[in-house]
Amino acid sequence: MIDIAPFRKRRTELMQLMDNGVAVIPTASEQTRNGDVHYRFRPDSDFFYLSGFPEPDACIVLIPGREQGEFILFCREKDPQRELWDGRRAGLEGATGEYGADDAFPIDDIDEILPGLLENHDRVYCTMGRYADFDTRLIHWLNEVRTKSRTGVHAPAGLVDIGHILHEMRLVKETEELRAMRRAAEVSARGHERAMRMCRPGLYEYQVQAELDYEFRLGGSHYSAYPSIVAGGANACVLHYTDNTEILRDGDLLLIDAGAEIDCYAADITRTFPVNGRFTAPQRDLYEIVLAAQQDAIEACVVGNTWNHPHEAAVRTLCQGLIDLGLIDGGLDEALEKGTYRRFYMHRTGHWLGMDVHDVGDYKIADQWRPLEPGMTLTVEPGLYVAAADDVDARFHDIGIRIEDDVLITAKGPEILTRAAPKTIDDIETLMRS
Ligand code: GLY
Ligand code: MN
Ligand code: MN
Repeated sequence: MIDIAPFRKRRTELMQLMDNGVAVIPTASEQTRNGDVHYRFRPDSDFFYLSGFPEPDACIVLIPGREQGEFILFCREKDPQRELWDGRRAGLEGATGEYGADDAFPIDDIDEILPGLLENHDRVYCTMGRYADFDTRLIHWLNEVRTKSRTGVHAPAGLVDIGHILHEMRLVKETEELRAMRRAAEVSARGHERAMRMCRPGLYEYQVQAELDYEFRLGGSHYSAYPSIVAGGANACVLHYTDNTEILRDGDLLLIDAGAEIDCYAADITRTFPVNGRFTAPQRDLYEIVLAAQQDAIEACVVGNTWNHPHEAAVRTLCQGLIDLGLIDGGLDEALEKGTYRRFYMHRTGHWLGMDVHDVGDYKIADQWRPLEPGMTLTVEPGLYVAAADDVDARFHDIGIRIEDDVLITAKGPEILTRAAPKTIDDIETLMRS
């Protein structure tokens, strides 16, 4: 039995922020993979955040002040024959009994029922642009209400993207959400540690991925939060390498970017370590720069700073390190201004993290980087990627390094949710020796 209190609290808060409107929030449908096979179902994040309802083909309607109840859930009816094949459905009884809906209707009847629920409200809050088919149906339902105008019914005039208010809520995590995020972080860290222990030259990248997946599943994660990157040697310089099909070679580094999802919350960890357990001198040089940059960026994750401060801190340290190694020319200010470091560091230092790995929430407010607040969760993931080229010192060719942790902003400073994953050269080499 799920605890519905957090979901109810979120719906109440959302409704207080709505202005004489109705919210209509669908979840995802099952997607065919091939033949009669579906991808494993994963609920829509906005929908799940407000309901905890895990089934496909459902829709939340919130109507603040509605006498018969404000929370309406459209969902699949119980169907003993289908349930025999595909598993239990909550049905209308479960929607009200287990999930706290005030009213529940069959999803198959939504065309008949929903237009009536929109009557005499000023606006509809919707997930515009998420599901094209659903948007089309919503316009159709609105048109139906408009045709009744001669009878004195007034149709909503505005369609408002509910993301503007809902995603601000999702950006600041509550206790229950942090509980899931901590679990996802811990399970993911165990996966990375296992990968380090099992790694050796001659294995294939996918074999190391299997070790991660094993820990993820063992820890209660049904799926990864995103496709794992298990990239040996030069593959680490391909930022979104997910083939994971090549053999791991003695003397190369292995970059693993992988995180588990638990109860719809993501972890996102990257670790980079030597396939044979010992860093070479050039690998060590670059690694220490990335690690220092990450440390500086994490220290910048404090209330009073803005979203961009950790990135600026990381870039400064990376830039100075590249200058010290002779990989870029000039003084620090010049290198920062000209952006010469971008050849080796071409992405940002992080993103919001939550139900979605690249989570919702604006990064700027009124064109200014937004201040960091307690309860926000983000990744800190600087890297250096040195592709082979004639004008680059050959010792550094094909080395790609990223170090990524998940950080919670608190009033007392940054809390690293993923701290259990080994990260210093000493810790990694000691673990891999044992
Ligand atoms: N794993 C995706 C990212 O690091 O953003
Ligand atoms: Mn990330
Ligand atoms: Mn990542």
